[in-house]
Amino acid sequence: MKRIITLFILGFSPILHAQQINANDFLKQVLSFPLGASVNPRLLEENTSYRGLVETEFTSLTAENHMKMALIHPESHHFDFTKGDEIVAFAKKNKSRVHGHTLVWHNQTAQWMKDFQGDQQAWENLLKNHIQTIVKHYHGQITGWDVVNEAFLDDGSLRPSIWTDHIPDYLAKSFIWAHEADPQVLLFYNDYGQDGKPKKMEAILNMVQDFKKRQIPIDGLGLQMHISIQSKNEEIKQIIEQSTATGLRIHFSEVDIAVNPKNNPDFVLDDTILQTQSDKFQWLFSSFGAIPRKQQYGITFWNVGDKDSWLRGYFKRPKEYPLLFDENYQRKSAYQELYQRLTKK
Ligand code: XIL
Repeated sequence: MKRIITLFILGFSPILHAQQINANDFLKQVLSFPLGASVNPRLLEENTSYRGLVETEFTSLTAENHMKMALIHPESHHFDFTKGDEIVAFAKKNKSRVHGHTLVWHNQTAQWMKDFQGDQQAWENLLKNHIQTIVKHYHGQITGWDVVNEAFLDDGSLRPSIWTDHIPDYLAKSFIWAHEADPQVLLFYNDYGQDGKPKKMEAILNMVQDFKKRQIPIDGLGLQMHISIQSKNEEIKQIIEQSTATGLRIHFSEVDIAVNPKNNPDFVLDDTILQTQSDKFQWLFSSFGAIPRKQQYGITFWNVGDKDSWLRGYFKRPKEYPLLFDENYQRKSAYQELYQRLTKK
């Protein structure tokens, strides 16, 4: 009550303005594209609130980690599909789409890959076998794959990795191998931080041009959208437009909006900050809505509730609240406002 009075005195409350929406009304019902989340199979199993939200709120699932090289292909002659299969089975039961992440990356590669010795042919066989075994395993169950993740540096050069070291033209080859294994599955190039990095964006656009010229299959671009309330809308708008102009499908593939990007230990989340974050979510969704319908692949959040975010776990930023659901798996005001904006007559 005290809080409400304070807000009243301040004359500002997003929570008071945002009429509570009915628990049986869902954002997914008013979107014309899939709403996704990356998921952690342990939480799906152990945490009923988490599982409940994944079941009711999301229509597209991505494995946050379990389809990455180190986890799905831990030894040269052994693939471990257990957790990936669990996510696929869960999605199927729930009639959700699955988006695959990621066949090739410089990070979370398996130790045996880092230690691998061989000539170019041997390396190509390794990567081709990796890609094709996984794509075939999930044939018909996965809508699209992030084939290659984060291949370019900010200056537009190819990021050095075991792949650039041993396989010339590995990007194009990866797409060709994926396509050979499943000609139906959609193939994405996925990357982060193109906003405000024109050289990086240009490198991605050049890659698409080059692929088109060489008839190398590619269907979509993933814009990760790990952004913050300080990210500049004009810069993000520009990369959305440039990406959309390729004619490919567009996926906002790993959305989170950091509210405390400098990891200030004294940070306190208040309604003003929540409102700024909510405005950014609204803006991001309406920017996605402006993409031609047939190019809208979907928006995927990078996990479910604020406390599940990799910004807390991986980056050790305990005072971060980047998602649509709070620490108690309740809808944040941003959720309410998104729903209301989309249903406003
Ligand atoms: C992150 C996961 O969220 C973490 O759990 C893991 O420890 C590291 O990777 N870009 C990507 C994702 O493409 O795969 C990353 O996921 C986040 C950045």
